[in-house]
Amino acid sequence: MMAQPLYAIPGTVSAPPPQAERGDAPDTPAATVAEVLAQTRVEEVLDELDRDLVGLAPVKQRIRDMAALLVIDRLRAHHGLAAASPSLHMSFTGNPGTGKTTVAMRMAQILHRLGYVRKGHLVAVTRDDLVGQYIGHTAPKTREVLKKAMGGVLFIDEAYYLYRPENERDYGQEAIEILLQVMENQRDDLVVILAGYKERMDTFFRSNPGMSSRIAHHLEFPDYSLDELLRIGDQLLAQQHYRFGEGARAAFDAYLTRRLTQPHFANARSVRNALDRVRLRQASRLFGDRERRFTREQLSTIAPEDILASRVFQSVAPSSPAEEHPR
Ligand SMILES: Nc1ncnc2c1ncn2[C@@H]1O[C@H](COP(=O)(O)OP(=O)(O)OP(=O)(O)O)[C@@H](O)[C@H]1O
Ligand SMILES: [Mg+2]
Repeated sequence: MMAQPLYAIPGTVSAPPPQAERGDAPDTPAATVAEVLAQTRVEEVLDELDRDLVGLAPVKQRIRDMAALLVIDRLRAHHGLAAASPSLHMSFTGNPGTGKTTVAMRMAQILHRLGYVRKGHLVAVTRDDLVGQYIGHTAPKTREVLKKAMGGVLFIDEAYYLYRPENERDYGQEAIEILLQVMENQRDDLVVILAGYKERMDTFFRSNPGMSSRIAHHLEFPDYSLDELLRIGDQLLAQQHYRFGEGARAAFDAYLTRRLTQPHFANARSVRNALDRVRLRQASRLFGDRERRFTREQLSTIAPEDILASRVFQSVAPSSPAEEHPR
């Protein structure tokens, strides 16, 4: 068993920083929900979340609920109704490409605007950023990461890799113990989000009750439906000033229908990757036409053939089934 030192993070204090440094908190305290919303501009972020992200209704609702808790917490504080600062550590579970990192960044903004963290940045890490290879390397590595994340959100992707029960002397345990201390003692200035696959996270929590008891909010990210994936595709194209030409959206629908059933399908990430390759094909199609003066329209239109040339449409199985990005 490791000793239980209180891990102080250099350059930080465990007491909350003065109110003036936090979010947009003004001098006169807000007295109504509307005033808190107006002063903190948190509703903007919530509305953006609704607008920019396709689907994810249960996730959006949970975030609204958490925002409500924090707004009421502020009103309570103005009435002197002291309570421990709410525990905001979270787990985000779901398959790859379901929006976990994207939502975590929005969450950091919300927490910042409501004054729960000083800076509102997101530091995303995996096991390798926290755990060293040799004895004595883990604690400094973990502390360095925590120092960077202080005042914001520490996002630990595939958090369950921190715990390797098959290896008795695994240094991951040391990182977990440091995290547990900081999650408890500095929770007014650091929010930890553990992300990964649902089943593995459940197993991890069962074996690490200390971690489980510090995570108050579990958000599940469902896989997107075909319709949602198509809408994500529309949005990604529009953001980059492209659009589907005649018949191209139907071709992309057919593409996704096939791609969905293949190995390594990663939801919105696969849509993004597929569209990157579609843009390449559109470019090489136009590239061949050396003398033509392209119109704005031609330069921004995706044709069905740009999609149908994908390997996903070949009837033979891909030569390498493990390949992550079938062309
Ligand atoms: N609901 C959505 N609406 C629009 N775009 C989305 C949505 N969800 C994800 N995306 C886009 O898909 C990509 C992958 O999302 P993100 O990185 O947040 O997923 P993730 O769950 O963190 O994936 P991974 O587990 O692979 O890290 C990003 O480019 C993001 O902008
Ligand atoms: Mg991610």
